[in-house]
Amino acid sequence: MEKLVIHGGPPLCGTLPVSASKNAALPLMAAAILPHGVTHLDHIPHLRDITTFSHVLRITGASVERKGRGLQIDASRIGFPEAPYELVKKMRASFYMLGALLGRCGQARVSLPGGCAWGPRPVNLHLEGLKALGAAIDLDEGYVVARLPHGGLPGGSYRFDPSSVGATVNLLLAASVGSGGSRIENAAIEPDVIVFCEMLQAMGAKLSGIGTRTIEVEGIRELQAVDYSNCPDRIELGTFMIAAAIAGTPGEPVHLTHTRPDHLGDDFLDAFQKTGAEYVVENGSVIVTPPEAVNPVSITTAIYPGFPTDLQAQWTVLLACAHGKATVTDQVYGDRFNHIPELARMGLQASVNGNQVTVSGGARLTGARVMSTDLRASVSLVLAGLVASGTTHVGRIYHLDRGYEKLESKLSQCGIDIRREQYDEFSAPNQG
Ligand code: EPU
Repeated sequence: MEKLVIHGGPPLCGTLPVSASKNAALPLMAAAILPHGVTHLDHIPHLRDITTFSHVLRITGASVERKGRGLQIDASRIGFPEAPYELVKKMRASFYMLGALLGRCGQARVSLPGGCAWGPRPVNLHLEGLKALGAAIDLDEGYVVARLPHGGLPGGSYRFDPSSVGATVNLLLAASVGSGGSRIENAAIEPDVIVFCEMLQAMGAKLSGIGTRTIEVEGIRELQAVDYSNCPDRIELGTFMIAAAIAGTPGEPVHLTHTRPDHLGDDFLDAFQKTGAEYVVENGSVIVTPPEAVNPVSITTAIYPGFPTDLQAQWTVLLACAHGKATVTDQVYGDRFNHIPELARMGLQASVNGNQVTVSGGARLTGARVMSTDLRASVSLVLAGLVASGTTHVGRIYHLDRGYEKLESKLSQCGIDIRREQYDEFSAPNQG
């Protein structure tokens, strides 16, 4: 297995480039199997989740090839409308194949994703929504078996409660091709969904209301393959802004390049400024000036444009560096706190009560051997390692590799003492 070894202390300085978005890339890849042709997607990050989803697409008969910083997806020969358990269990977003295969083949057999590292994540809205638009849905030995009537999806209307990124994507994938009209209410308005809708539109899909809570779709017979460019990763930007605020030298700006700060939403940006950190936006870069002292600022996650749940673990580390008490409340996922016991091993003073963590900041964190449990938890451990005294070993970084591209090389170019090492989880500490 691999781990990251971080010697805390050296400040973060210089320029950190932000990679292309993982969560926007995945629906774009799913959309690429709708037309009978070759799609070129530019700015697709080199990540484990992209590799996994490429395999999922290949199973159906698509060819997926890396071309520099992008992907070429040839969907001329899709013949096997299935996403197997072995791949779906590795990455929940494989469930996008339900809508994509229905749109392309009129039928799909897609494994149910099951739970995730921090608890249950239901797919009821995906299934109820597709049924409301006219798909027949059955469950068979852990698989969803979906079928459209002859002539394609008849269409219909469905209101999400709560609004869901994944379910909005799935319904749009299925509804863009066909003969009927569909109306999706309380649709997700996350930037990842907007970028995906704009690609569907470029492919010829008849969508209206993009970026609003009500999207209407008129199914058409066939979509066209296009060349399309992905957006920067908003969660990586937020992670790096937090890193700069806590691990930079006070008063010395850190430059984050290739960014879309408007994709972060106002709640994150407002909370960030209240910490005392300053930022300015200049020509696609965010320039962060770390504060002399970090103010404790409580946050509550909410769907976009609220504070992203995907940044709450990282915010907890920021609060550990602030003097005073503050809370992190997650309203999107009530039990996404696997990082807390690991951070406690580094000296974090925090208590969890239901969906809220109270952090008493100010005590210096200390390096320790800690273990990643999921993607965002693992990057919170890396952030803690930057500010901790001594050496932090972050194990099981296959979680981190799902969503952060070349993290250690980016950080080491900014002055951080970090390296990747092989290790044996069961060996004694002095052996690795
Ligand atoms: N929900 C339901 N039923 C459903 C679907 C969702 O009750 O059928 C609930 C969820 O439990 C949650 C809320 O709706 O409380 C919103 O979940 P959503 O469906 O929007 O999440 P998702 O599409 O499964 C995406 C991101 C997640 C991110 C969430 C929330 C991708 C591939 N995943 O998941 O990203 O946390 O939106 O913003 O885009 C990550 O990158 O680390 C990650 C987990």
